[in-house]
Amino acid sequence: MSDFLVFENVTKRFGDLAVVSEISFSVEKGEIFSLLGPSGCGKTTLLRLVAGFMKPDEGRILLNGRDINQIPPEKRPVNTVFQNYALFPHLTLRQNIAFGPELAKKLSRAEIDTEVERMLDLVDLASHADKKPSQISGGQKQRVAIGRALINKPEVLLLDEPLAALDLKLRQRLLVELEDLHEEVGITFLYVTHDQGEAMGISDRIAVMRAGKIEQIGAPAAIYETPVNSFVAAFIGDTNFLSGVAGEELDHEYHNAVLDDLGILRVYKDRPILQGDRLTLSLRPETIALSRARPGTLTENHNAARGVIEDMIYLGSLTRFRVRSGARLFMVESQHGRFFLDDEKPLQRGDQVWLCWHANDGYRLENFSEEDRQLLSFPGGKE
Ligand SMILES: Nc1ncnc2c1ncn2[C@@H]1O[C@H](COP(=O)(O)OP(=O)(O)OP(=O)(O)O)[C@@H](O)[C@H]1O
Ligand SMILES: [Mg+2]
Repeated sequence: MSDFLVFENVTKRFGDLAVVSEISFSVEKGEIFSLLGPSGCGKTTLLRLVAGFMKPDEGRILLNGRDINQIPPEKRPVNTVFQNYALFPHLTLRQNIAFGPELAKKLSRAEIDTEVERMLDLVDLASHADKKPSQISGGQKQRVAIGRALINKPEVLLLDEPLAALDLKLRQRLLVELEDLHEEVGITFLYVTHDQGEAMGISDRIAVMRAGKIEQIGAPAAIYETPVNSFVAAFIGDTNFLSGVAGEELDHEYHNAVLDDLGILRVYKDRPILQGDRLTLSLRPETIALSRARPGTLTENHNAARGVIEDMIYLGSLTRFRVRSGARLFMVESQHGRFFLDDEKPLQRGDQVWLCWHANDGYRLENFSEEDRQLLSFPGGKE
């Protein structure tokens, strides 16, 4: 694999404000690469720069080794799928899909017709081909928009929140369809979303953005399990932030640390720690186990703290607990909806419990900012 779509120190300003600031990264040929971040962080701006609807103030964008800055939008081998479909209401689905090649005038009528039928099959709309956009559902409209883009055989398909207007079930279904479609056409997808579940589900790699910058790039599991900072940790899912001061080294893998409100616990040392260092761990809710008695199976590399269940929410496939331990609140998630323990009695609000986790599950962040707590479902920490 090679660098296919390359951003080199790209900056875009509106007035004095840089909404995209010295961004550099590359997308590989054939991958699904997502730009993920909160509203206003510059995702759409990056897509528009690739599409050619605007130009960078600094830096350049290369496609297949070629600087595309001077290429007008209609000549770039890219197409965009928008959240609001942008279909022509007076044209049938077939005519909508035929629009690009008809405009380009490169193919004969017969060739265009063949391509249109192929696209209708690809997006599974052959039986609706003569309907108008007003006669089909949102999910079907988005499939028309995708077919209309793919018929131009772009080298990169740009997708800007393509599923945002659809309800949850349909979003999940279309996400799978999009992945299948990607397998079939094999082209590069640059996918914009502010929905972390969507990005995790579809992407080969994700770039997490904040305020015009990229915070971290990686495969979904890497972003989730080894976030570089508290923003990425809190934006991708929920977590518990445990801060403290590093104590003595235990062996080449583990360190002691005095964690605020929790006392001395064991910390995994994936990179060097110095005694006295201030550190913050991200501990995902599903890595903590709850039990009434202190489990006999704990090893010296486990941590355990006592707590009281403050409340719990049953979410079907999992139950989310808030557990108070001293001045600190933990979020814990368990897949066993009713969370039976050894004594077969489900946990309830007010129960005294042990919170246990393996030291390796506390991932040490490179940077922590207190305000990133606000991104969590509940801020946790001290209350
Ligand atoms: N044409 C423009 N003129 C001035 N400011 C703009 C323009 N387009 C975008 N911006 C600003 O640039 C910033 C980034 O916008 P952008 O549309 O790229 O964000 P986004 O990440 O796509 O957000 P969302 O998730 O809400 O779509 C925002 O603060 C926005 O207000
Ligand atoms: Mg946007």
